[in-house]
Amino acid sequence: MDWHIARAALDWQVELGATEAIGDVPVNRYEVEAEARAAKAAAPAAMKSVPPIPAQEPEIDAVAEATRLAATAPSLEALADAQASFDHCDLKKGARNFVFADGVAGAPLMIVGEAPGRDEDREGKPFVGRAGQLLDRMLAAIDMTRAQNVYITNVLPWRPPQNRDPKPDEMAMMLPFVKRHIELAQPKVLIAMGNHSCQALLQKRGITRLRGQWHEALGLPVIPMLHPAYLLRQPHAKRGAWEDLLSLKSKLRDLDG
Ligand code: URA
Repeated sequence: MDWHIARAALDWQVELGATEAIGDVPVNRYEVEAEARAAKAAAPAAMKSVPPIPAQEPEIDAVAEATRLAATAPSLEALADAQASFDHCDLKKGARNFVFADGVAGAPLMIVGEAPGRDEDREGKPFVGRAGQLLDRMLAAIDMTRAQNVYITNVLPWRPPQNRDPKPDEMAMMLPFVKRHIELAQPKVLIAMGNHSCQALLQKRGITRLRGQWHEALGLPVIPMLHPAYLLRQPHAKRGAWEDLLSLKSKLRDLDG
């Protein structure tokens, strides 16, 4: 088969949700297991008594490693390089692209979302799919744009398979990078966008209860907001999101004046 056709067929399968490569020919695993048992039984006694050599995997503390790498990054570029080359998070293996940030670094508002979805994974930028387009419209309603005065990132820089929820260990490994990201970007105000972002930044869950109330993280005011993906499914919740945007605008005005 032509390489390009094969590649397109593979991409299509990934798009459909295939996560494993399997052979063309079916394998009866019961037979394989029975054969292995028979081979073991037939092995000479000397071979049977040899104890298996345990695999010597060095124990890696991924959170400590992330903390070390993030703390020593002197700039956003260095942080992006350090995070992109971090190999202890399995999500990296399944993602097409590393998604670091978009917008103006140093902007007064920094939004911390959850994780890239399909469109973000494809483009290597956060919030570019339907939820991202809604987010842009929400920001425009308070005269803010990512081209001018907003900076956006996510807790996870790699797409979880089938957009599943981030796992606690994945978030724990990425948190040192997120914290350093915020330190280097120096926003005045943070939005924790959605439940997982609240969990990461505030160690709190229950976004429908938390939204709209000001909290503090890393010495900055943080407002938890309903995720735009949720607002797409629950349009009646947009009223609360609008209140939160007004509260955000007034906080930015107060901090300015
Ligand atoms: N949802 C997020 O939280 N982040 C994105 O980048 C896209 C969708």
